[in-house]
Amino acid sequence: MLTANVVLHPDFTIGKTDPRLFGAFAEHLGRCVYGGMFEPGHPKADAKGFRLDVLELVRELAPTILRYPGGNFVSGYNWEDGVGPVGDRPRRLDLAWMSTETNAFGTNEFIDWCRLANIEPMLAVNLGTRDADAARNLVEYCNHPGGTHLSDLRKAHGWSKPHAVKFWCLGNEMDGPWQMEAKTATEYARKAVEAAKMMKWIDPTIELAACGSSGRTMPTFGTWEQTVLDHCFDHVEYISLHTYLNNWAGDTAAFLASPDLMDSFIDEVVAIADAVSARRRSSKRIMLSFDEWNVWYRTRRSRTDRVKENWPVAPEILEEVYSMEDALTFGGACVSLLNHADRVKAACLAQLVNAIAPIMTETGGPAWRQTIFYPFAHFSNFGRGHVLKAKIDSPTYSATYYDPRGAEELTYPIPAVPTLKLAAVHDPEAKSLTLFALNRSLDSEMTLKVTAKDFSALSVTECLEMHDGDLKAANTKANPNRIRPKPLQGVTVKSQQVTATLAPASWNVIRLGATK
Ligand code: AHR
Repeated sequence: MLTANVVLHPDFTIGKTDPRLFGAFAEHLGRCVYGGMFEPGHPKADAKGFRLDVLELVRELAPTILRYPGGNFVSGYNWEDGVGPVGDRPRRLDLAWMSTETNAFGTNEFIDWCRLANIEPMLAVNLGTRDADAARNLVEYCNHPGGTHLSDLRKAHGWSKPHAVKFWCLGNEMDGPWQMEAKTATEYARKAVEAAKMMKWIDPTIELAACGSSGRTMPTFGTWEQTVLDHCFDHVEYISLHTYLNNWAGDTAAFLASPDLMDSFIDEVVAIADAVSARRRSSKRIMLSFDEWNVWYRTRRSRTDRVKENWPVAPEILEEVYSMEDALTFGGACVSLLNHADRVKAACLAQLVNAIAPIMTETGGPAWRQTIFYPFAHFSNFGRGHVLKAKIDSPTYSATYYDPRGAEELTYPIPAVPTLKLAAVHDPEAKSLTLFALNRSLDSEMTLKVTAKDFSALSVTECLEMHDGDLKAANTKANPNRIRPKPLQGVTVKSQQVTATLAPASWNVIRLGATK
């Protein structure tokens, strides 16, 4: 039996979680939009073709903001193709996913879907094959009230009120050679600055995220952020980060440790961004938009493979089936994001439906929850408030995480992985304290002892655990409830001391009533 001790105090906080920390991402990719969110003719679709069974699960998952339309897709997207009468919209070859794009769903449908789901829209502009002119035109089409060609075009298309989209991404992963018209940092930064200027001249209330590195393993990581921010500093509020965690090596202990590299990545991007501020003697701080994160490895394939498929419409690609161990690593990533609530002000789980997603559907059939659905729902529903600086005294282990880059076999040693990964969120208004706790030991139970100093009237509200003897078990259409949270028994509270026993390899959520 292992023991971990944690000390908390309500006055020692990291920061308040921004509602946008709990976002997700929907790309024109496989069956994410078509056959996922949107499937006209499905028995559970509404008059617009939005699947209401999916929407019901989305409400339970509770994402707050949704990034759209890509991803790799946006780097070749003509937004004009996706507006106006559906019958007039062109079919196009999508070179990101080697598919055929019908354009039956576009910006206006996306906004309608977001309104119905009560989710804030986040739009990405194409800075790959298009330029600043197309980006500023999209802002005018979406956000200008009327009296100009593009705003009146939106009205003529049936949307009289401006969409008022506040959060915009200046392209996607422009550092990646797989991207349509990938760029050097300087090439991208120059384009992004000019787009940003014009977009904000049209609507000064918008917030902009510049592309950071598409991964910490990118050879240009670090210099990319510095160059981009040197150019864009005055014009953007955010820099983006992306991470996909993997267990290619079949090393579960290292896989569970891998969210700690997300912590390092965040700290490093903060350091680079703040160095740019420092050189300018500026008090402005660039915030982080972690606008793609998840576990993803089994369904990664090359373009060369996809091209053989003859340009399918909405193919079944990236349909990763998530296991119990994926849910644990995913929970660890949620903890990493919470523990950086001071600087990560937006984050998007990539993605929402079918493609590397918490929600799966069968085209024409039912929808169900993958294992990763649950930690995200816990994170979003119970993670609102002030994240506390937890002093954690935990046993540690060492791991070597394997994260190849192309043909390069790269490994990353993590010498001291705390077996307990934990975040604590205090919501003074709701008088609640929630502990998110991952026991990363594969074979030992852990006694968790939390001293919640200066909290009074602590009481147990609800305790949940996810763990299973089979770390490879998953939910499927045939068995959609194989893995789901169950009550965590035996949590005790005595004065300011909370004690729990955490099963080996388990994700735990301990919800307490707490008054400061
Ligand atoms: O989310 C899948 C893909 O991963 C996105 O399109 C791209 O931005 C990233 O490489």
